[in-house]
Order: sequence, then structure tokens, then C-alpha cells
Amino acid sequence: MRTIRIGLLGLGQIGGGVYSLLKRKGRALAREAGASFEIGGVAVRHPKKARSVRVPKALLTTRPESLVEDPRIDVIVELLGGIQPAKRLVLEALRNGKDVVTANKALLAEAGEEIFQAAKENGQRVFFEASVGGGIPIIKALRESLVANRIDSIYSIINGTSNYILSKMSEGKLDFGEALKLAQEKGYAERNPSLDIDGVDSAHKLAILVRLAFGGKAAFKEVYSEGISRISNEDIAFAEEFGYRIKLLAIAKRDPDGIEARVQPTLLPKSHILANVMGSFNAILIKGDEVGEVLLYGKGAGPLPTASAVVSDLVDLARSLGSEWSATSLPSGGGALKIKNISSILSRYYLRFHVIDRPGVLSKISSVLGRHRISISDMIQKERRVGSVVPLILLTHDAPERELRLAIREIDRLSVVRGKSQVIRIEGGP
Ligand code: HSE
Repeated sequence: MRTIRIGLLGLGQIGGGVYSLLKRKGRALAREAGASFEIGGVAVRHPKKARSVRVPKALLTTRPESLVEDPRIDVIVELLGGIQPAKRLVLEALRNGKDVVTANKALLAEAGEEIFQAAKENGQRVFFEASVGGGIPIIKALRESLVANRIDSIYSIINGTSNYILSKMSEGKLDFGEALKLAQEKGYAERNPSLDIDGVDSAHKLAILVRLAFGGKAAFKEVYSEGISRISNEDIAFAEEFGYRIKLLAIAKRDPDGIEARVQPTLLPKSHILANVMGSFNAILIKGDEVGEVLLYGKGAGPLPTASAVVSDLVDLARSLGSEWSATSLPSGGGALKIKNISSILSRYYLRFHVIDRPGVLSKISSVLGRHRISISDMIQKERRVGSVVPLILLTHDAPERELRLAIREIDRLSVVRGKSQVIRIEGGP
């Protein structure tokens, strides 16, 4: 039986998970793969650091280059995250005739073209199942199982940390900071958690999905993203009263003028299937023209779910050795996709203003909205404290984003409005 020697770059949460999974299930995996896996070396930054996995000292190196250059290593498993030095090491590994398995969504979203081009030129493969949705087999689903479909839309929750925080806030159990701390302890959050909270991690993953689903090049900077840090308990409670939950959604849809690709906090009706995805779970709802709707649900973050996806790539790699066909590269055809600018979309909106409770305030705000042809579908102004500042919440019918932004800018300048208004898009409702 052939032995596949692995150079593991990184022994953090995911690297530790991959190491322990290969140790625990080595025999069963070898049976499945028709080849056995051996760790040839592990590159770490701090060899003396205490870790949950015990790795023989002789395997550790602080020089990842030594693995990338080692002719006895067949495949590099890159779990460093971030753009550099991961990009340089991956490109070098491909040039040195090694296949690459990576979980690095930032790298693929921002430098995917270069990486896949280098793989093609060197006759190597790049496997990236773990880059989106942790343990959920979304890459293989799009590349293989749904290949007969034209994909019309993807609605997804693909950041476990943000979903965990919003879930805990809506259950009223933890505040933002406490929930984030717990997500970090559980190994869901990125080393720099602002990537999770600001929507960038979801946008990286969405860029990869857009590329696979719509078969063309998608520039990462054209994927619009907003994060969850401006969502308050007050918004969660008002959304609840209207029958909605707030989720950080990554949305991609095909329309006649191009592709919409955006990451945004979103009000979803409580009955919507994605509104019921709680905690660190991820879910991806795909609509194909032949199959209809398909929902993939599972653990989108955490060491073992992600390690399970990394190891599935290693088994795929072993099974396809010597085969010309590769399920791993991005579609080669397709030019640049036309990604629509956010200002050209149409959406419903949740608007929350802090206003002085005084006669005529509502008519002032609604007349600005009316002038911009934005129609109100619902409203709440709960408390009545004449003369003091109270929240006023309006929901709108479908409105052009461009007009909405102009209207909000005007409303924020009214003397009866205090602070910045809150705007959250609504999906999936009447
Ligand atoms: N930080 C990511 C998340 C990990 O919270 O979903 C998986 O990519």
C-alpha cells in the first residue's frame, strides 16, 4: 500500500484536530483511501507551547520551508490561515510538485486565481473542502452533486462565531462580549475575531461559493459585507416583536443584471428554516433549477468538524492519484462575473430611529420616506414619554437601496432624530 507523507503547516485548533484524527482513525482511513497517511513533519511557531495533542519532538520544525522543500513530502496541509506566509508556502509547494489541502478561505478568496493557476501550470491539485462551512461538505456538493443545475441562489449562515453570538443574545443569556469570549474558547473564532464579527470571514467564504456556483471569476472586493457589531439587544427584541430573528446571512443570487453577493445582518421570519439555525451551526440553502432547494446543515466551525473536512480531502487526493480528473480546481471556464453594486439592489428594510416623542415627528420621517418613494409596511412606537427620546421602528416594502440611503441621510439630519439610525435588510417575508 502506498504511503502519503503529509507536511502539516500549523498546529493550532484545526491542525491539532487533523493530527489527532489521523492518529485515531489511521487504519480505517487507509482502508478507505487505498493508501496510508503519515505525518512527515509539522511546522509550528512555538515548539515548546503546551498543546492538547502530543506530537513527537522530532516531527516539529519552526521552518515551514523545510517541509515545502522536502522531496519526501507528497502533500502540504496548510492550516496557518491569513494571506502571508501561507500564500508563499502554498505556491512554493505547488512548484515543488506537491498537492495542497487548505482550509484557508482568506487565501482562496483573495489570491485564488494565482493559486489555481500555479496548480494548473505545475500539474498539481488544491483541495479546499474545509474552507467553507467547516464540516459541511458544501464544496463537493457544488462541484459534484449539483453539477447538473444552474444555481439560482444561495442563502447561508457561514460564520459560526457570529451565529453563536446572535443566538446567545436572542436567548437573552449572554451579552455580545461574553458570547464572543466563549466562541473563542471553543475554537470557533478566528485568531483576529473582528474577521468574524465584521462579516469578512463570511465574505471570504461567499466569494468561494460564488465562484463555484456561478462559474466565473469573482473579485473578493466586490462582495459587499456588513458585520454584527452594530446589532443591539434592542433591535433583536423589536425584530422578535415583528416575528423576525436577526441572522448574519451570506447571500448570492442570480438576477438578469448580474450577481448579488452580500453579507449582512438580516431580519428573517421566525418560520424561515435559516432563522432556526442556532449556536455555532452553519447552514447553506441552495436553489438549483433542476433540484429545487437543498439545505446543508452542520457544524461550520471548531477543530473536529473542520478536521473532518481536511481529512476527507486527503482521502479524495489518495483515491484520485494517477487520475487525470480532478474535482478540486475551480471551474476553468467563465470570465469575470458581473457582481452588482449594493446600491443597485432592491430590499425590504427594518429602520430604527431614536426620536423625540412629540407630535408631528412620525409625519416628518414618513414624508422623507414618501419623497423617496419608500413605502412603510409596519411600525411600532411602544413607549410614550412625551418630550423624551423613544425608539421608533418602521418596516418598509421593497425599496431601492440607493433611495433608502438618501432618505436615511436626510432623516439623520432632522432635529427630532437623535444618533444614527439603524438599517437592517429583511429577507424572506411578505
Ligand atoms: N471563524 C470561523 C467561524 C471558523 O466562526 O465560522 C470557520 O471558518
